[in-house]
Amino acid sequence: MMTEPLVAEREPAAFVPRILAFSCTWCSYQAADLAGTSRREYSPHVRIVRVPCSGRVDSSFVLKALANGADGVLITGCHPGDCHYVRGNIFAEKRFERLAKLVLALGLEPERVRLEWISAAEGDRLAKTANEFAETIRRLGPLK
Ligand code: FES
Repeated sequence: MMTEPLVAEREPAAFVPRILAFSCTWCSYQAADLAGTSRREYSPHVRIVRVPCSGRVDSSFVLKALANGADGVLITGCHPGDCHYVRGNIFAEKRFERLAKLVLALGLEPERVRLEWISAAEGDRLAKTANEFAETIRRLGPLK
């Protein structure tokens, strides 16, 4: 006779990563739109927050996201030389270098934060990056 297994005998629930992406409105946010209209699927676990420029993403935004339940944070912006605010992405890159060191110093895996340049025309690249990052976070497991 088949019986339902006890709760303790069941497979552990699959880990569903919670990923926040801060995406520049001029480029990668539009790339996400393009991916959608092109029916290019990407991980539903990546939630996008539109920002005016990658340079607007303060490190405190990322740390707050990680402290409040995100398992990973992706920042995406215009390619070098294409920032609408000229040097916003340069600032973002310098800030990200400090952020990555801080994340490591806090005892977290540095792979939990990532910075990528993705133009409005790169819907495929946005989808690929989101999927890769989601897989990286899935392998790392939940942030405790
Ligand atoms: Fe896109 Fe600055 S406007 S990164």
